[in-house]
Amino acid sequence: MVTPRPAVAAMPAYRPGRNPADLARELGVDRAVKLASNEVAFPPLPEVVAAIAAAAGETNRYPDNGATLLTAALAERYGVAPAQVVVGAGAVSLCEQLAWSYTGPGTSIVFAWRSFEMYPLLGELTGARSVPVPLVPGTPGGPADTHDLDALAAAVDGTTRVVLVCNPNNPTGTAVRRPELERFLDTVPDTTLVVLDEAYREFVTDPGVPDGLELMRGRPNVAVLRTFSKAWGLAGLRVGYLIAEDPAVADLVRRTHVPFSVSMLAQAAGVAALASEDEVRERCAAVVAERDRLTAALRGRGVPVADSQANFVWLPLGGRTAEVAAALEARAVITRPFPGDGLRVTVGTPEEDDVFLAALDTVLGAAPVAG
Ligand SMILES: Cc1ncc(COP(=O)(O)O)c(C=O)c1O
Repeated sequence: MVTPRPAVAAMPAYRPGRNPADLARELGVDRAVKLASNEVAFPPLPEVVAAIAAAAGETNRYPDNGATLLTAALAERYGVAPAQVVVGAGAVSLCEQLAWSYTGPGTSIVFAWRSFEMYPLLGELTGARSVPVPLVPGTPGGPADTHDLDALAAAVDGTTRVVLVCNPNNPTGTAVRRPELERFLDTVPDTTLVVLDEAYREFVTDPGVPDGLELMRGRPNVAVLRTFSKAWGLAGLRVGYLIAEDPAVADLVRRTHVPFSVSMLAQAAGVAALASEDEVRERCAAVVAERDRLTAALRGRGVPVADSQANFVWLPLGGRTAEVAAALEARAVITRPFPGDGLRVTVGTPEEDDVFLAALDTVLGAAPVAG
């Protein structure tokens, strides 16, 4: 056997959620509902499908490695220079690129925990030290766990190259507001890159939650990460982007890009999606309305769900999480459990959410959640 890198051999294998078709077959039912991966339930817009179909006829060629058209469209949309934009094969690729570009043995990566599951893997990959900083615990029936920005700032030291702030936070759905985030950015030394991961930005409705791109201006050590996977409905195509205040940051992140990893179809779809932003916004508004209905329905059942600023809700079920998720799965509803902590449920269509609520009623019927 060839000896692997010990850090990689020790890594847990990635476990994607259950495939709904497989689960439906296993349970002998027509359909399983998947509310586990924070996708939107809408299919891609017709204009986007047409752009993908048109690009499909050219796939005997390699894609444009610099994603020139998509980069230009993003730069125009967000009022930045193309030199500030990096396109990647999903925001996950850009997280990896950030880690490879800035970190290695002897350095550290600071992030809140619990947060996006990929963050702790970045240090494993490059040999950097991961510094998880516990979220401030929420109160039962009140706000959910959220970022402790003071503790996050205190965890940054001379070795810290990257600090990740997931806003709104996956999986709790909570978001930090402008004054505290500004104070945090003022505190972090300019030798540390602050990455504002705004994968769910388009679902934010609280006016107190700042747009990271606005906060970024004038701060060369800040970059914003976004994705076409969620609001824009392109999870299956893998395309995300980073916008950095300092073009030198974008340049460095581009250097660790796996050549040609953003496909021609993904680039074409991204351009077409940006051109259909009004329809995308309407869809986001529908998701937000359904998020509010789902939140109210859960609270009505005694589940202490906090306000979410994303397209998912967080059920702080603690020790019952794994058992509830398994019982829901047995009723053909796939959610995302974080055992011992809570259950993340993606906002689906009203019909899907009703299937989930009905299944939850059966599961919790015997032992309701205390508020
Ligand atoms: C906070 C956060 N960042 C980044 C991503 C990655 O998105 P993608 O790689 O699909 O662009 C996700 C996906 O779940 C996420 O939740």
